[in-house]
Amino acid sequence: MKEIDLSTKLGEITLKNPVITASGTCGYGQELEDYMDLEQLGALTVKGITLQAKTGNPVPRIVETPAGILNSIGLENPGLEGFLADKIKIIKGYQLPVFVNISGYSIEDFVLLAEKLAEISCIAALEVNVSCPNIPGGGLAFGTDPELIYQITKQVKAAYPGSVIVKLSPNVTAISDMAIAAQEGGADIISLINTLQGMAIDLERQKPVFANTFGGLSGPAIKPVALRMVYQVAQKIKIPIIGMGGIMTGQDAVEFLLAGASAVAIGTATLIHPDAPLMIIKEIKAYLQDKKINNIQEIIGKVLN
Ligand code: SIN
Repeated sequence: MKEIDLSTKLGEITLKNPVITASGTCGYGQELEDYMDLEQLGALTVKGITLQAKTGNPVPRIVETPAGILNSIGLENPGLEGFLADKIKIIKGYQLPVFVNISGYSIEDFVLLAEKLAEISCIAALEVNVSCPNIPGGGLAFGTDPELIYQITKQVKAAYPGSVIVKLSPNVTAISDMAIAAQEGGADIISLINTLQGMAIDLERQKPVFANTFGGLSGPAIKPVALRMVYQVAQKIKIPIIGMGGIMTGQDAVEFLLAGASAVAIGTATLIHPDAPLMIIKEIKAYLQDKKINNIQEIIGKVLN
């Protein structure tokens, strides 16, 4: 049998395989270097950055659920300055596309980040996070309003010459409207889904576990929701999709590809098995081998009407 071609395209960006790390689950790459050869990945998406450094929310920040986790990290990150001073030199050494996730409290924040990051040639794309459920006055406030998604995308595109990914929230009624707004604003790629808003209660204190009350649910519990949303969005937009949400195995990843995703991102699985993305690449390959398919493109969107 011929070597299986796992390569895929996200607009202008070619990935050697469709498996990417989800933002917030691989730090800035270096944190996972002891567990896997990062260069075997399709791409790496680093933890979101904001203009100013953030210490994040008070602990506890993670709660286990029967089929996943709730997180309330609160975008802890070194800020643009810290990122440029300490992280970029590491990222520069990686021989694979690196996507940088950005968050903000206003459209101006996103534009300023985009302008500054436009000067860094080793970044393959910006992932605009309009979907963080854990910061007041930012994130989700943007991701549930199609007009704001359109405006942020349009202004980031005007400030940034490279590829722009818009990361959508599932905490909406009509996910396709959000994806269409991003496409109309000029997005090159859509990624979905971020976490589903949830909560946990501490029975001893009789209070919410998180200082912020709500957190974001990820892991296997959200996979059916994520898959449904990827399928719906893929029917409505022309730009490529990175599918994510509870992908734990290669079989899960193949479902997202069949539903119309051109690539997949792995998040919670990596928190359990730090080399999960590499195992998933192997399992996707084994699935294709078993089905006697030589090129992954043959399955992308196969389930769409
Ligand atoms: C966080 O840092 O709170 C999570 C980021 C996100 O969900 O976008």
